Amino acid sequence: MIEHKKRCDLLFQVIQLSNGKNSQQNSSTKVFLVTLSLILISSIPLGLLKSSHSPLPSPKINISSLRSIELDNKCDVFKGKWVPHPQGPYYTNETCRLIIDQHNCMKFGRPDSEFMKWRWKPDDCVLPLFDAAQFLEMVRGKSMAFVGDSVGRNQMQSLLCLLADVAYPEDISDKLSADTNYFKRLFYADYNFTLATFWSPFLVKSRDADPDGHSYNSLMSLYLDEADEAWANEIENFDYVIISAGQWFFRPLLFYNKGQLVGCHKCNGNITSLTRYSAYRMAFRTAFRTLLSLKNYKGTTFLRTFSASHFENGDWDKGGSCARIRPITGQEMKLEEFNMEFYLTQVEELRTAEKEGKTTGLTFQLLNTTEIMWLRPDGHPNSYGHSMNRNATVNDCVHWCLPGPIDTWNEFLLYLMKRDALQRLRAKLMKNA
Ligand SMILES: *[C@@H]1O[C@H](CO)[C@@H](O)[C@H](O)[C@H]1NC(C)=O
Ligand SMILES: *[C@@H]1O[C@H](CO)[C@@H](O)[C@H](O)[C@H]1NC(C)=O
Ligand SMILES: *[C@@H]1O[C@H](CO)[C@@H](O)[C@H](O)[C@H]1NC(C)=O
Ligand SMILES: *[C@@H]1O[C@H](CO)[C@@H](O)[C@H](O)[C@H]1NC(C)=O
Ligand SMILES: *[C@@H]1O[C@H](CO)[C@@H](O)[C@H](O)[C@H]1NC(C)=O
Ligand SMILES: *[C@@H]1O[C@H](CO)[C@@H](O)[C@H](O)[C@H]1NC(C)=O
Repeated sequence: MIEHKKRCDLLFQVIQLSNGKNSQQNSSTKVFLVTLSLILISSIPLGLLKSSHSPLPSPKINISSLRSIELDNKCDVFKGKWVPHPQGPYYTNETCRLIIDQHNCMKFGRPDSEFMKWRWKPDDCVLPLFDAAQFLEMVRGKSMAFVGDSVGRNQMQSLLCLLADVAYPEDISDKLSADTNYFKRLFYADYNFTLATFWSPFLVKSRDADPDGHSYNSLMSLYLDEADEAWANEIENFDYVIISAGQWFFRPLLFYNKGQLVGCHKCNGNITSLTRYSAYRMAFRTAFRTLLSLKNYKGTTFLRTFSASHFENGDWDKGGSCARIRPITGQEMKLEEFNMEFYLTQVEELRTAEKEGKTTGLTFQLLNTTEIMWLRPDGHPNSYGHSMNRNATVNDCVHWCLPGPIDTWNEFLLYLMKRDALQRLRAKLMKNA
């Protein structure tokens, strides 16, 4: 009986969580509830369900909708296509006050708006709409960190706007960091939820190495076996960590391992034993190992995969631009091999971490955006974004306009968080059964 009570309490908590006070009963909440019901049915002795003093509302069972959820569970949400969504985006630069100039394409005169009117449609299911109230209920009393470069920050800014529908955070960055442009700390008081960004474009320790100082394309040194302390010293207590790295690996780099120079990228001379792909691999390996080795880290880690740039008619520094106004198909323009190589490399490292995590109870998840975003050359600021260190001669085909296709990353994030919560619940129930 005590065992039963424990299970009931647990389930009750999750149902409350999925059905928060402010939450509208929209379709994604229902999907979650029905999925829970499915777990209930498959894991709880029937007698318990019928028990009159059970605190659970008896689940409403609709056989055909259960079937569709069963299919959903097997669905690969990352396989699909972009479909028109005439309703348009979740927010505008007027309804969300938090869009920074770098992403505020409409403010700087982008004339077309069709790029905001597409949704990702998985082949075998539907990706639920982002539900801000549901997200905030899930993260109540928790914390989330984005670790990476300005594209990681871009996803955090998108999340702020998606949540702005329900709550605005207090910016407490200056209490924790001197460099508040790069290290952000935001607090949602009503939910006791902390959101942070850690600036760490290489994930590992890096230093400027260019005699002419730092610039867009200056030489830097990477210490591939040492995690960047900027995030590694702070991450232990976070519940969700979204990790990514990308474009910074294209600049001239010197690679160090165990303090020895072991290779370089775009450098003169003859240190060539290590390529940028191996360096990228080692950076992720070091980052994941660090998370695995932190004694108090209990969080769920998401790898948000490589986001390729879309410069056409020239490189970024040779007048290249991204002027398309519509998604493409994979046939129209192929993802270059070097982009695929980065993506495959990091996924391999994630798989290794995933395996190791199983033995210590840590979860690693794939936020598989590379190919999906490759189809969206129309989503970048191009000449309609104003960066912090703006160089007017360079178009931005790396970051993403807000609102825009990057909002989809947070639809995936919420979906994966719910799936993770369900898997944990199922595991707990099995253990208690
Ligand atoms: C059961 O679910 C299916 C699929 O979601 C739906 O089309 C149908 O209307 C539902 N039936 C009832 C009685 O709610
Ligand atoms: C990631 O998604 C793409 C389609 O967008 C798919 O082709 C690929 O197999 C997926 N990768 C993994 C590791 O699931
Ligand atoms: C929002 O975009 C419009 C153009 O669509 C622009 O005129 C306006 O200044 C922008 N507002 C803000 C607050 O960025
Ligand atoms: C807020 O959440 C933190 C964990 O993120 C927890 O330690 C703290 O007790 C919570 N505070 C309240 C008032 O619930
Ligand atoms: C290149 O290698 C040769 C032979 O190992 C060495 O003598 C030379 O100093 C190296 N050059 C640079 C720039 O490291
Ligand atoms: C802007 O970019 C051009 C092209 O790469 C470069 O030559 C120039 O030095 C840059 N200017 C600044 C201020 O960074």
